[in-house]
Amino acid sequence: MNIKLLEVELNEVASDVTIIFLKKDELEGCEHSDILQKTGFKAEQDTTCFLYEKGLLFCGVDSKKSDDIRSAVASAIKAIRTSNFKSVKVAILSKSVIGALVEGIVLGGYEFNNYKSEQKKVVLEDIFLVSNDLDFTKIEEDFAQAMIVANATNFTRDIVNKTPQDVNPQVLAQIAQDLAEQNTLECTVLQEADLAQEGMNAMLAVGRASVHGSTLIHLAYKPQNPKKVVTLVGKGLTYDSGGLSLKQPTSMVTMKMDKAGACATLGIIKAVSELKLDIEVHAFIGAVENMVGGNAYKPDDVLISRSKTTIEVRNTDAEGRLVLADVLDYAQDKVKADYIFDFATLTGACMIALGQYTSGIMGHSHKLKHDINKAASDAGEMVSSLPFNRHLKKLLKSDIADISNTASKPYGGAITAGMFLDKFIREENKNKWMHFDIAGTAYTEAAWDCNVYGGTGAGVRLMTQFLKDI
Ligand code: BES
Ligand code: ZN
Ligand code: ZN
Repeated sequence: MNIKLLEVELNEVASDVTIIFLKKDELEGCEHSDILQKTGFKAEQDTTCFLYEKGLLFCGVDSKKSDDIRSAVASAIKAIRTSNFKSVKVAILSKSVIGALVEGIVLGGYEFNNYKSEQKKVVLEDIFLVSNDLDFTKIEEDFAQAMIVANATNFTRDIVNKTPQDVNPQVLAQIAQDLAEQNTLECTVLQEADLAQEGMNAMLAVGRASVHGSTLIHLAYKPQNPKKVVTLVGKGLTYDSGGLSLKQPTSMVTMKMDKAGACATLGIIKAVSELKLDIEVHAFIGAVENMVGGNAYKPDDVLISRSKTTIEVRNTDAEGRLVLADVLDYAQDKVKADYIFDFATLTGACMIALGQYTSGIMGHSHKLKHDINKAASDAGEMVSSLPFNRHLKKLLKSDIADISNTASKPYGGAITAGMFLDKFIREENKNKWMHFDIAGTAYTEAAWDCNVYGGTGAGVRLMTQFLKDI
């Protein structure tokens, strides 16, 4: 699928199909209103009407703004990919929607077929984005940037979608090393012996029953004169069985996605390095598999974490926070950053609180929450703040250790998980840190917006946007 930008009149472009966005109030006045009426097309957002003989594909939109265009063009691309047309053109309605068009096409047209024995044959070859009356230099720049970000998002999706059999902590380290080589990044991988030397006993405990050694991956993008330094931390549970606090069979399915936070940090650093932003970015990934076995860590264990904070394990399925506790502590020692962001599929509770379409953001700085909100909305992702409070914090008290890995009451689970992480953020970094719970948004079993079945790449677009803005 080639996407090409053309500076000509739309009618000068030869293509099999033309995509036309239509609002409900434009339906009546439209040239083809009679036939559209007969098909029953009502121009509802994300519905399409394909007039095959005329080579016209109508897409309903609520507005011509980015969010609606992104999701409408994603539906259009799916409709065309199932046909036998070779080329399609679409007019760029305004300079603000070029990014949305690219994302809708690249992300909505994504399919993961690695495990299908027969590859689908897609006839569609060329997609032309056409305009003759906009500042083309700006359009070209926005187009190139959107392509980088959308491809990085699909890169993230590809890793998330791979099975736990194919991506274990060692393989994730290899993927990071390959990316480092391709994009000239620095890459260091710590193996279990190194982790033991670092005193990362919380992370090591989680991975102990796995046959695959845990790894801590550190990738760095270092431009010449960076304006800011940013640390990203990713939860990389290549599988989360729950450990001895074993998950229910139905909850265990999809747990290959528990590495999505790590995959997001890989996608972000890929995008930032290809956009050549003047920002130094470090990605720290805790890659671990949470399994059962005679040597598994147990509820009742007390772990001495890297920061020397002792942790009572009351549930081995609350493992992500144990891994992140050690990785956050390590990252704060290694890099003096202006911002620290962690990405994690941390709690089912976040999904219950916000739904499947919104990531939870937690931290102390109102300004940072505000700026992240703005970046997310510009990038077409949804976030919402879940507020810390002192009452919920008390629920993490342990009678035997410094802190418990689960709260004593079941409500507010996303926030108590965030407050557990907060225990490992140093005083000087409190306002620089933000935690992203992407448990709901990172993976989907039903298409929505420009997301298709599987990994969504949540976090990549929003964080890249934030980094572009600073
Ligand atoms: N990886 C899960 C969280 C999760 C659940 C992600 C559903 C995506 C979809 C995490 O490790 C976990 O199991 N959390 C527990 C915490 C509980 C034991 C305190 C949860 O959410 O139930
Ligand atoms: Zn778990
Ligand atoms: Zn998990």
